[in-house]
Amino acid sequence: MQRTGWFPDERAYAGEEHLDPAYVTTYDRKSAHDHRDDLAVLQSMGLNADSVVVDLGAGTGSFALAVAPLCRRVIAVDVSPAMLDYIRAGASRQGISNLEVVHAGFLSYEHQGDPADIVYSRNALHHLPDFWKAVALKRVVDILTPGGVLRLHDLVYHVEPEEITQTIEGWLAGAREQPEDGWTRAELETHVREEYSTFSWLHEPLLERAGFEIREATYRPSRTYAAYTCVKR
Ligand SMILES: C[S@@+](CC[C@H](N)C(=O)[O-])C[C@H]1O[C@@H](n2cnc3c(N)ncnc32)[C@H](O)[C@@H]1O
Repeated sequence: MQRTGWFPDERAYAGEEHLDPAYVTTYDRKSAHDHRDDLAVLQSMGLNADSVVVDLGAGTGSFALAVAPLCRRVIAVDVSPAMLDYIRAGASRQGISNLEVVHAGFLSYEHQGDPADIVYSRNALHHLPDFWKAVALKRVVDILTPGGVLRLHDLVYHVEPEEITQTIEGWLAGAREQPEDGWTRAELETHVREEYSTFSWLHEPLLERAGFEIREATYRPSRTYAAYTCVKR
């Protein structure tokens, strides 16, 4: 897509904290995630030693580092230079040599080499408004091989409009007290107010319209997180 005056600056949407090296060093403790389930799902969908994997909005690279020993090539993409420095340091510490980092975003990443077999993205797509989510998802389809897999996690509201207050308040009631331990009420309030999480009943047609078949959708009990396993049609 041509980048003219109406093309957004993805960094401006990325959340200032993600650009802050001090915050980045605290991120893994705050947002710990066990990738074993994702890896098992992806292995059941064909992840193997020959796979090319792209992680969009890779953050500190916890998924990219976990998948690296199981695939041929993994590319961790993020708009935050601080996140990418953190990933490089992790890869070097762990002696991982098949992981590349690319400073780009959903809307600007240009894939090189063999098409991706798998695209992974966790808790990053909500940084874009829905119009740009649609553009981003179409770009994901374009870098995948036919039959390629998208494993997507995000903050998505699996509710009807009349359930919003109850659902959001219920979610916020479980917030952590200390920012080092997880998401505080103030942080979650900022997410709802300023970021672009949308309803599952808008999000899912975006995936389908881009060219994916949704093979599995799961929702956390809070109804504020969803995970999708999708296949390029
Ligand atoms: C909440 S963090 C999630 C990081 C990681 N995927 C995880 O699961 O821990 C969101 C990440 O998305 C990145 N990000 C925000 N907007 C982006 C965009 N348009 N393209 C790519 N990455 C983006 C941020 O810099 C940040 O690293």
